[in-house]
Amino acid sequence: MKKLIIANWKLNPATADDAQKLAASINQAAKNTAVLCPPTVFLSRINFPRLGAQDCFWQEKGAFTGQTSPLQLKSLGVKYCIAGHSERRAVGDTDEMVNAKLNALLEHKITPILCVGFGTTVEQDDLEVTDVLKQQLGAGLAGIDPLKVIAAYEPVWAIGTGKNASPEHAEKIALFIKSKYGIKKILYGGSVNAANAKGFLQQPNISGLLVGGESLIPGHFNQIINF
Ligand code: 13P
Repeated sequence: MKKLIIANWKLNPATADDAQKLAASINQAAKNTAVLCPPTVFLSRINFPRLGAQDCFWQEKGAFTGQTSPLQLKSLGVKYCIAGHSERRAVGDTDEMVNAKLNALLEHKITPILCVGFGTTVEQDDLEVTDVLKQQLGAGLAGIDPLKVIAAYEPVWAIGTGKNASPEHAEKIALFIKSKYGIKKILYGGSVNAANAKGFLQQPNISGLLVGGESLIPGHFNQIINF
């Protein structure tokens, strides 16, 4: 079965030209389904069959300086939007805000990718992860149909560190999210690369990957989306 591979470019690249070049070098007809999430400012300049946003605001319009609404994203053809990434939570996004974003996205038929995860060390992850996940999922999904949401499990210690979780650990968490919260599609993210991607994609309860750094390297990302 096709897996869903989401590229989170974060705050990269520096120019619209570079963003267009990067998008043009990604295989549009890969074995798996690839989605590109460029910085919001470049969304309208990117030509790719499936686009996602990295974040959004929960209001449609009005006096909200600097924000981007799901309505605006929809007008650019955006089909997916990340919400609750740990890099957003680190600058103040709360579970209640994430929940409001999910509601707003679903209202405009954009599929939310709800990021959950905790633990700045592997040990802490083992000790505390379940409680934190319960809080993030319970509050984030309040009043939301879980079948309309994709979850991404991203342990904080694995993001951008070159240290990925084991596929078995990620599978265990995916099963927990699926059985307790009813979300059918769960992705893994955190130091995914062309060498370790296959191990995650072989897990029965992992539906795909959320890829940061390696999604900026076309040769590597094209390998990941073609496993
Ligand atoms: P890296 O793949 O760079 O670790 O980033 C993961 C991530 O945060 C994707 O959202």
